[in-house]
Amino acid sequence: MADKQIKTIGVLTSGGDAPGMNAAIRAVVRRGLSSGLNVKGIYKGYMGLLNEEIIDMTAKDVSDTIERGGTILYTARCLEFRTEEGQKRGAEICRKHGIEGLVVIGGDGSFAGAQKLANLGINTIGVPGTIDLDIACTEYTIGFDTAVNTAMEAIDKVRDTSTSHERCSIIEVMGRGAGYLALWCSIANGAEDVLIPEKYDYDEQKLINNIIDSRKKGKKHHIIVNAEGIGHSEAMAKRIEAATGIETRATILGHMQRGGNPTCKDRVYASMMGALAVDLLVQGKSCRVVGYRHGEFMDFDINEALAMKKNVSEYMWEINQSLSHNYTKNK
Ligand code: ADP
Ligand code: F6P
Repeated sequence: MADKQIKTIGVLTSGGDAPGMNAAIRAVVRRGLSSGLNVKGIYKGYMGLLNEEIIDMTAKDVSDTIERGGTILYTARCLEFRTEEGQKRGAEICRKHGIEGLVVIGGDGSFAGAQKLANLGINTIGVPGTIDLDIACTEYTIGFDTAVNTAMEAIDKVRDTSTSHERCSIIEVMGRGAGYLALWCSIANGAEDVLIPEKYDYDEQKLINNIIDSRKKGKKHHIIVNAEGIGHSEAMAKRIEAATGIETRATILGHMQRGGNPTCKDRVYASMMGALAVDLLVQGKSCRVVGYRHGEFMDFDINEALAMKKNVSEYMWEINQSLSHNYTKNK
């Protein structure tokens, strides 16, 4: 079957930025150009599309970007694009600029937008970019590796001072409704406790008992990694201090987790995914999202990808519990 050969593609980043997005943009641009396509960059996600902030991209435009955090195309959230009218206007603007294929780097929300554009005749491919790792079809999302390393290093630093002062420290990490960043940090930082939306039973007394028990056993610090999805770290710290008599401090890591130079993994995987997205467009594919599973890069139908559910691995959770404290399997 002969596929209709497209000539011009566009690329945008949408939703929260993530380290490695520049590597993906660079790969789209250079893979596109080397495949004989024209490549256009769209600034500020769907908002920039609706405002026609569209530029031609050359190989040189993405020089010196692979090592940089953030996104050179900027990013935005756009309410208007959630409306049918906004989506139709977006598709018309793509056509006006000759954009037949579009690579959307972002999360599930951005993919929902890409799905709408695909239904309106623009070939779209989603590339998973979010520090939250909360995209169901893929084991890897651009930015998670950098963010989790950034958070891990920050928690190590808090731990030093926590030990010196023999304190309990609650460190809140990002992740929106998902606990992946928190759980990975818990294992990597050897935290005493971790609170994630997928598992927390809101039994604060149990947490308080753990803190008292570990202090009795001679632990000099007590690190609690708290996922943003649980939140309220400051108030929790006050309650814990009142209940245990142990000085307790809360640290909310915040947006520093979204910045910084991407790790090698984020640069390489983002490059692979950006290039694969272009290859799929060249093959005439649309309404697909790129993913990584079982050691392979692959693609899925966006509708199916958006319907998939993702859960924290039970085995990983159980191992985390057994490596922390006071834990007996099946207790
Ligand atoms: P993420 O892509 O990281 O999940 P958001 O959920 O904020 O981030 O979505 C990014 C943007 O994608 C939104 O601001 C909006 O422009 C677009 N978008 C989100 N959901 C939809 C939808 N259901 N239909 C069309 N566009 C959407
Ligand atoms: O999705 C990435 C993320 O950093 C989440 O972890 C967090 O909940 C959210 O974005 C924060 O968004 P904003 O930058 O708009 O405050």
